[in-house]
Amino acid sequence: MKRIGFIGTGHIAAPMARFLAYKGHRVTVSVRNAETAAALVASHGVSVADNQDVVDASDVVFLCLRPTVAVSAITPLAFRADQQIVSVMAGVTRDTLREHCAPASDISVTIPLGFLEQGGCPLPGFPDGRLLRELFEPENPVHDVATETALNMHFAVCAMVPGILDLLASGAEWLGDQTADRQAAEVYTTQLMSGYLATMARGQGQLAAERDALATEGTLSLQMTTALREGRAHEALTVAMDAIGARLGGKL
Ligand SMILES: NC(=O)c1ccc[n+]([C@@H]2O[C@H](COP(=O)([O-])OP(=O)(O)OC[C@H]3O[C@@H](n4cnc5c(N)ncnc54)[C@H](OP(=O)(O)O)[C@@H]3O)[C@@H](O)[C@H]2O)c1
Repeated sequence: MKRIGFIGTGHIAAPMARFLAYKGHRVTVSVRNAETAAALVASHGVSVADNQDVVDASDVVFLCLRPTVAVSAITPLAFRADQQIVSVMAGVTRDTLREHCAPASDISVTIPLGFLEQGGCPLPGFPDGRLLRELFEPENPVHDVATETALNMHFAVCAMVPGILDLLASGAEWLGDQTADRQAAEVYTTQLMSGYLATMARGQGQLAAERDALATEGTLSLQMTTALREGRAHEALTVAMDAIGARLGGKL
């Protein structure tokens, strides 16, 4: 059991705090975002404290602030050399965190999504996933990532999630227009995609192999993949990912 603190009690901190409290860790969250903090107290018995008291009460401190306020919120805090820090903040470099969290020097970065609470959320870890494994496996698989730039590029793939959801919403809407039942159309579309992804094999080349197994000569599947390529959907995706990667300091 570890004493775990959260600086920033927003969208991403809440499911992490619930997961870790459920696993038996002693969790303290910062008093900011009173509504979320109160809900965490009521549902999972976490403690609430001001930022310095969160740091003082914790072996592990998760930094879950928006990047624009990160430095100003962290700078006044006194960390300890024996503490472990985990940042989930896109675009806040590890060097910046080292400078502002000193003397704490065990600093790792990861990218959680809220469904980590239910399990199955892959967590890339830089410089290594040691602590993340201890806290989040076996429910969530941890992947070691070799460089900070590589870690940042994973944020670009995470941004693909709302992009794909947007496409799925268009597909579901189209089906709803054809069937005059938008609710059933969205449920069906969501079940189809989530069921397919949940049960398919994983590994290098598997996505293309699944596509090719479906999109064979004369099929509706091939008609779809061809139309998307001809409509430059892949080009649009790559342009978006390059732009997001460049914003996060990728070598592009
Ligand atoms: N949302 C996601 O799915 C997700 C996924 C991966 C990574 N991230 C990263 O997680 C970070 C937070 O994102 P979010 O979506 O959770 O944002 P959010 O919902 O806006 O949460 C930010 C939290 O920080 C608090 N805060 C602001 N100033 C503070 C201060 N001086 N001291 C303590 N707390 C302060 C806010 O409190 P008030 O509401 O009281 O201002 C709020 O609770 C971002 O850097 C983002 O890149 C998010």
